[in-house]
Amino acid sequence: MFRLNPKTGLTHEVSPEVESTQIPPLRDPQGRHLDYLRLSVTDRCNLRCRYCMPADGIKLAARENVLTLEEMQRLGAIFAQLGVRKIRITGGEPLLRKGVVSLIAGLQGLPSSPEILMTTNGLLLEANLHDLQAAGLRRINLSLDTLKPEKWRDITRRGGHDTVLKAMDLVLAKGMGLKINVVVLPGENVNEIPDFVALTKDRDVSIRFIEPMPFDGTGKPLAATVNGDDILGFIRPHYELKALTNPDGAVDKLYAVKGHRGNIGIIEGHSRTFCSSCRRLRLNASGEFRTCLYGRPQANLRLLMRGGATDTDLMAVIRDAVEKRLVDGFAAEKDSKLFGLKSMVDIGG
Ligand code: 5AD
Ligand code: SF4
Repeated sequence: MFRLNPKTGLTHEVSPEVESTQIPPLRDPQGRHLDYLRLSVTDRCNLRCRYCMPADGIKLAARENVLTLEEMQRLGAIFAQLGVRKIRITGGEPLLRKGVVSLIAGLQGLPSSPEILMTTNGLLLEANLHDLQAAGLRRINLSLDTLKPEKWRDITRRGGHDTVLKAMDLVLAKGMGLKINVVVLPGENVNEIPDFVALTKDRDVSIRFIEPMPFDGTGKPLAATVNGDDILGFIRPHYELKALTNPDGAVDKLYAVKGHRGNIGIIEGHSRTFCSSCRRLRLNASGEFRTCLYGRPQANLRLLMRGGATDTDLMAVIRDAVEKRLVDGFAAEKDSKLFGLKSMVDIGG
């Protein structure tokens, strides 16, 4: 059976047996409930951030090997039926994908109304903000690693810094939730950490400082890194912090900053201190499905769909992968050694 979403015109298949049964949620062997999907809608990007890809970019998937919007909508519907409550649209740069706004409306319109979020570099945000909000997007994560235009050019190897700064204030002016992702890079932007914290003084924004991870597409381990404690050490001499409990049970350690409207978070993506509560699944733009950022792809859902898999078949494959989920990101990394260190774009953001 195909169900038409009247808002978007996108259809998704709902098999009768799936529609009529109570489907248990996805739980891994550690008892973690997986209810958050990161869905990459494109592997293309209009920036070339050093920690994400080499200067000449990464090897892009052939167009026919990228999920269509209809396939993404179908998979979104399947994950929602499996209990996924939150879907984050990622990339590459998601706003480069034509039709992404109707996809968001389509996913938002699923019977269980999952929350749809997006992570973007902000370059194309101004032109799309109105439509995104109309499609039901309420919160945005903006990647912004430096407040200095020269440094921006250096890190992203492109221009457009002022456009992103403007996008930040436009998102806030629209009343949307805003998080800013700052990948902390030794020798590059660590001296700007207090300036980023200062942004939270009068703005209702959450600044999330991210440990760099070895996903720059070169296959080499990181030359230099910082961990969460180092990052806190750069902040504490300047600001009084108070630990907050994270409402989402998410992976960031949240802190209130005394006297500030916004807050900050630390994401220990390399130290992997949060694995015991990680609820994330990942689907890259080619349909590769991962149960861990550091792990190998467990299945290619695009190939299965194009080979005629039913919704029930796909659900079984997803559940099987979840049931094989390893204990943490270190175990997953060890298991995926042969696959090498990838680019964040290959993994799907
Ligand atoms: N290490 C840490 N964070 C990264 N991101 C991309 N590549 C890396 C990396 N190697 C971040 C981006 C974006 C988010 C989706 O992931 O800055 O904000
Ligand atoms: Fe593009 Fe994001 Fe990678 Fe930067 S980190 S190159 S913005 S996909």
